Formats: sequence, structure tokens, C-alpha cells
Amino acid sequence: MKTIIEPFRIKSIEPIRMTTREEREQYIIDAWYNLFTLRSNDVLIDLLTDSGTSSMSARQWGAIMEGDESYAGSPSFYRFEAAVKKLMPFKYLIPTHQGRAAESILFTVVTDSSHSIPNNTHFDTTRANVEAQGAEAVDLVIPEGKQPDLEHPFKGNMDIEALERFIQERGADHIPICMLTVTNNSGGGQPVAMENIRQTREVCDRYGIPLFIDACRFAENAWFIKLREPGYEDKPVVEIVREMFSYADGCTMSAKKDGLANSGGWLAMNNEDWAVECRNRLILTEGFSTYGGLTGRDLEAIAVGLEEVVQEDYLHYRIASTQYVARHLAEAGVPIMKPAGGHAVYIDARQFLPHIPPLQYPGQSLAVELYKHGGIRGCEIGTVMFGKKPDGTEAPAAMDLVRLAIPRRVYTQSQMDYLIEVVGEVYEKRHELRGMKFIREPKALRHFTGRFDYVDA
Ligand code: F0G
Repeated sequence: MKTIIEPFRIKSIEPIRMTTREEREQYIIDAWYNLFTLRSNDVLIDLLTDSGTSSMSARQWGAIMEGDESYAGSPSFYRFEAAVKKLMPFKYLIPTHQGRAAESILFTVVTDSSHSIPNNTHFDTTRANVEAQGAEAVDLVIPEGKQPDLEHPFKGNMDIEALERFIQERGADHIPICMLTVTNNSGGGQPVAMENIRQTREVCDRYGIPLFIDACRFAENAWFIKLREPGYEDKPVVEIVREMFSYADGCTMSAKKDGLANSGGWLAMNNEDWAVECRNRLILTEGFSTYGGLTGRDLEAIAVGLEEVVQEDYLHYRIASTQYVARHLAEAGVPIMKPAGGHAVYIDARQFLPHIPPLQYPGQSLAVELYKHGGIRGCEIGTVMFGKKPDGTEAPAAMDLVRLAIPRRVYTQSQMDYLIEVVGEVYEKRHELRGMKFIREPKALRHFTGRFDYVDA
């Protein structure tokens, strides 16, 4: 059959509160044109993030009742541990309340201000956690990964030659770990090929540098490997996942993505000395080592989520629904990042709004208009998010994108058809959109709490 159906039925629903354009124009003024400041029940289709927004299955809700809330040694932890280790067999597993807590603990333990961390592309919290140690976060994605128009099966790949040059320039002693983000969220949700993971590992091995994977969307990455990389078409996804992690020495994970849970994360590694220090840090900041800031019921939900996220019917539907949105937008002439990523469709706002210069935040202007026009909440991933340098100067980001992140198992196809219609209509009147400026700018992670207005307001 050509139609790929959602491989589930809906058992419990959440009503959407309908709003008018006039109402939304007021809500966005009240939110200082920052979509993070909006109230979510003033949003019709919320594509701000795919993080923590998944629908859980009946099995996950059932497992939640099994959660054991003992402070230490809960059976829920051991079920969680078994589920993680089936996919990512690292020796030491440290639960955290979400991904950035794992990053914070890891970088506090392994980095100091003389260090540099290479990554295909750091996610914003990863970068902020590296920089919080005074260390340098450097993105070394392949050049194809920075060209939104260009079709390439693995645009998240690390530039292997650039990585080796970088290690030689900085010196291996100043690089405590190398990271790979799968899929590459800030680069458009693009996958990393197995061959590239292997080659990254080989370079790391030559210089004795441990490789850590930012594993948030590991299952989606594995599905792309199965679809696109020769030799993997007949391999079960679980085997592909295990091979991906076999090349790594550790990982950070946000279970809010491919854990299919509403909260949670972990840090895993093989290095015992680091694990001991990380656990001490965990107890100081998150909680005891068998719960790490989570409840027993969270651990249960993640354990079941990890079984469900590698099911091939699920991944088939998941990636097909993202591609569906991308294909229809491209057919309407909307400039999008190609090919579509796993968890999101990224609109190329710089090309969508060529009359708005990058330092007037075309991505922010577009995201605001999508909200006003159709109640869609997307997220600017561009100069607002990445334009501010640690020394206080500002420069255009490599790309100005608006991310429409698709929550897992949440929206139906007709809701995606509505989205396609809204974006198409805004594209028709794109010449009317105006540039924006900060009217209040926080020092770090300015996109979350900054206030905006139109430049000519
Ligand atoms: N790494 C990547 C690649 C991410 O996408 C995220 C979160 C994190 C780390 C941090 O995880 O949120 O659990 O602390 N990304 C979300 C997003 C917020 O919307 O893309 P967290």
C-alpha cells in the first residue's frame, strides 16, 4: 500500500483550544515575540520541540503503575538499566533528569578551560555546558551539512579530515573527548553514517581520545542507516543501534526524544575513574545513583519506551510522516533543508525572507508569523540561537532555519495537512514580513528568555 498509516490507535485525547488571528496577535505581543514565552494552550499545533512531548503508549502508562519509589536499589532502576544496556552496552550507567544534566556532569568532570571539544554540531545546551567550563566547543560537520539545498544521505557526518587537523592543531592532550551528535539536531536533524562513526572512532583511536555519542535520536539515526547505507538494508534496527554504540566509549542521552518518555536522560561510559567522579557529582546535583533525579515511574516509562522506539513499524511511520511534510512544502516552493531530517522539517528562513538580513533574525520573524497566521509554534535555529559569541560579539549563524519539530505519536495526518497549508499561505505573503531586534537580551541561551520587537517598530 502507498498510504503509510500510524501504527497505533488513539485511546485518550487532549482537546486543542481554537484561537483567532486577532487573539494570537495579542498573545504574541504579550510574549514579547518570543515563542518560548507563549502559553501552550494558546498554540494550535505545537512544533516547538520533539523533546518530552511524545505520547506514551498504554504499555508505558501501565508500567508507570509498577514504578517502585525506593530511594536506593529500586527494581525500576534495574529494568531501566537492562533496557538501556540492551541497546548501548556501556559499563557504567548514570540516570539523570534530562540530557543537559548528563552533559553538565560529564563536562564538569572531564573538561577544564584549556580544553577543546570537537563535535559534528553541538546542540545549544551541549555547547553551553562546554563553554561553562571555559572550554571551547568546535563544530566540524562536513561542508555539505551547511548547505540547506544540497541532497546528501548523511549530512550529519563529521568532517574526518578536519577532525584530524583539529586534533593536531590543538594537541590531543587538550581534547578530553570527541563527540558525535546523532542525528545532528542543530544541523537539521541529519543522520550520521555508520561508516562515519567508524572513521571518527579510528581518528580518535590514533590520538587516544575517547568518543562520546550524543544519543538523543539514536533510533531515528539507525533507521536512516538502514534506509540509506549499503549493507544495512536487511539488518534489524537493534543490531544497527548496537553497532553504532560499539564504536563509542560513552554517551549522553535525553530520554525525552528517542526514549519516548516525557522526562529523563542518562550518562553512560566505560571509563571507571570518570564514572566514579560522575556518580559523586550526580549525588551532589541530581540524586542517588539508582534514580538520578527521576522517579521510579519515569525509569519504567523509559524502559518500555526504549523497546517501542526501535520497532520498525514505528520508525517507518515516524520518518515517513516527517518526509510527508517536507515533500509537500517543497512542492509548494517553500525553501526547506534537504533531505528532511528525522524529527523535524527545517525551513530555510534566509532564503524564504531574502529581504531580511541575518542580524535582523529572519528565522524569528518567520516563526512569529507562522504563529500569528495559523497558531503553529516552531523554533528559530539560527542567528538568535547561535549568533552571540562568548566574547560578546555577534555574527550571523551558519544558517537561519525555522524548525518544525514533530512530537512522536502526537499529531495526525490532517493536522500535518493544516500545517502545510499555513506555511504555504505565509510563503505567498512573505514580502510583508519584517526584520526583528532584541529589546532585552540575556547573557546566555538568549533565545529562551530574550524579548523582541520589529526593527521598524
Ligand atoms: N543534545 C541534543 C542533540 C538535543 O537535541 C538536546 C535537546 C539535548 C542534547 C539536551 O537534552 O533537553 O533533555 O536536556 N533538545 C531539545 C530540542 C531541547 O528541542 O531539540 P535535554
